[in-house]
Amino acid sequence: MTTATLSSPCSYVIFGATGNLSQVKLMPALYHLEVAGRLPEETMILATGRRPWNREIWIEQVKKMVVAKARGGVDEAIFSRFVQRLDYHQVDLNQAEGYQSLAIKLDQENFPSNIAFYLSIKPSDFGVVIQNLSEVELLQQPHGWRRVIIEKPFGYDTESARALQKRLNRYLEEEQIYRIDHYLGKGTVQNVLVFRFANVLMEPLWNRNYIDHVQITHSENLGVGTRGYYYDTAGALRDMIQSHLLQLMALVAMEPPVSMEAEALRDEKVKVLKSIRPIPQHAVHAQAFRAQYRSGQMPEEGFVSGYLEEEGIPKDSVTETYAALRLYIDNWRWRGVPFYLRTGKRLKKSQSAIAICFKHPPQQLFRNTQIEQLHPNWINLGIQPEERLTTEINVKQPGLTMKTRTINMDASFRSQHEAHTDAYEDLLLDVIEGDRSLFLRYDEVATAWQVVDPVLQVWSMERDYIRSYPAGSWGPKEANRLFEREDQYWRYSLDCCDELKG
Ligand SMILES: NC(=O)c1ccc[n+]([C@@H]2O[C@H](COP(=O)([O-])OP(=O)(O)OC[C@H]3O[C@@H](n4cnc5c(N)ncnc54)[C@H](OP(=O)(O)O)[C@@H]3O)[C@@H](O)[C@H]2O)c1
Repeated sequence: MTTATLSSPCSYVIFGATGNLSQVKLMPALYHLEVAGRLPEETMILATGRRPWNREIWIEQVKKMVVAKARGGVDEAIFSRFVQRLDYHQVDLNQAEGYQSLAIKLDQENFPSNIAFYLSIKPSDFGVVIQNLSEVELLQQPHGWRRVIIEKPFGYDTESARALQKRLNRYLEEEQIYRIDHYLGKGTVQNVLVFRFANVLMEPLWNRNYIDHVQITHSENLGVGTRGYYYDTAGALRDMIQSHLLQLMALVAMEPPVSMEAEALRDEKVKVLKSIRPIPQHAVHAQAFRAQYRSGQMPEEGFVSGYLEEEGIPKDSVTETYAALRLYIDNWRWRGVPFYLRTGKRLKKSQSAIAICFKHPPQQLFRNTQIEQLHPNWINLGIQPEERLTTEINVKQPGLTMKTRTINMDASFRSQHEAHTDAYEDLLLDVIEGDRSLFLRYDEVATAWQVVDPVLQVWSMERDYIRSYPAGSWGPKEANRLFEREDQYWRYSLDCCDELKG
């Protein structure tokens, strides 16, 4: 979480700068930080890549990246200032010479000695890069800090995450490591904390006595696009639930931290993750559900191909593009309350939301009236694209009879004139400022892997068949079997209406 004062300058070194993430997120985010005047004076941005490019070619490329993404167009004067910070250095990740010449380059006077290394590269290359940086003494901190930003995924399961951590530990202290989950940089995710802990109204209700169940959804319009090769080795459970959705669950369910300091926040999140009841292998089918999209009609794009027809996907792949889980947190506050987590690609609408369903009032006071069934109260937090908070409450309908209707109290987190910032802007700035509260500590990542591991293991053995759903739908109806009771149903919108029922 950023403060308004400028930190000391640093050198931002980006590995994989020519790749997709750098193009669509990192370089535009750094430009927007320039626009906001948040990059400390003398900060330099050194792109590294395998291609034999030079500074001039790189600047041309950055111009294209920024033009494609700049909010309100590119400001030429600001862009010229930004260009002064840019440089390019050719490094092959697997060859030692590149790191030696990088160390020489970074030793030049114009590069500040505080250095942030952003690893926007394949996860299997994280270890080799860290080892090589250490060998040329770029990770030592005698004259300035050295920080390493690691993209997700951090491992593929508990074992591989542990092996990667062991390797990193040989060369880095934990406080040098910034494990990024860009989801946590979204203002609305941070707003979950504000909503819970800055409003005394909520706290008395925030427990098993009043809450019936919680739903956390991340749905996407898009298919796998050009990332099929990566996605097919991951799947929805690894890609979204292990990281983003379990983080959201932890924020919804955690106890108030003693402060907003990074360690205090992370301690509370880890406690929640550790309290999640392990799913025994025999219960995987009851508590987890997977499916894959087939061809279908998207609301805007029209007809689209199925997952198996996408580039880079084997014809017999059973990788899930939809995953849902029912989880329980075995602690004093949440015992017995189901948490339903769901994510999918090629679903009808792109959205991320948390929906909290409250229990019915304890007495049926309206027994002898025309009120047949009261709609439960819901609190819905829209994360993206709508940054909204809605509360559904029941009121009496005007007229002579005792009937109710549900109304929506609707609050937007952001009014139209307030600027939207991308999560990467917050996070890139947090690294410069040394604020790790929105980055993941190793025990958070490891515990999250332990939650999903039993499901991954069972699914990896079941390689003959996977259910499918048409692109453009809300996923397979069979996913409803995760619900504990018939009166529970998936929410599809932040607005209350009966057609919300799936
Ligand atoms: N893209 C996203 O939306 C997204 C979202 C979340 C997380 N991530 C994570 O971000 C990381 C990068 O993803 P990406 O989509 O940007 O991947 P990408 O488009 O495939 O880019 C990979 C980058 O690594 C470079 N590279 C590969 N081998 C190299 C070598 N031997 N020496 C030097 N450079 C080498 C590539 O350089 P060349 O171009 O010269 O080959 C390219 O710049 C991954 O960990 C991914 O999981 C990406």
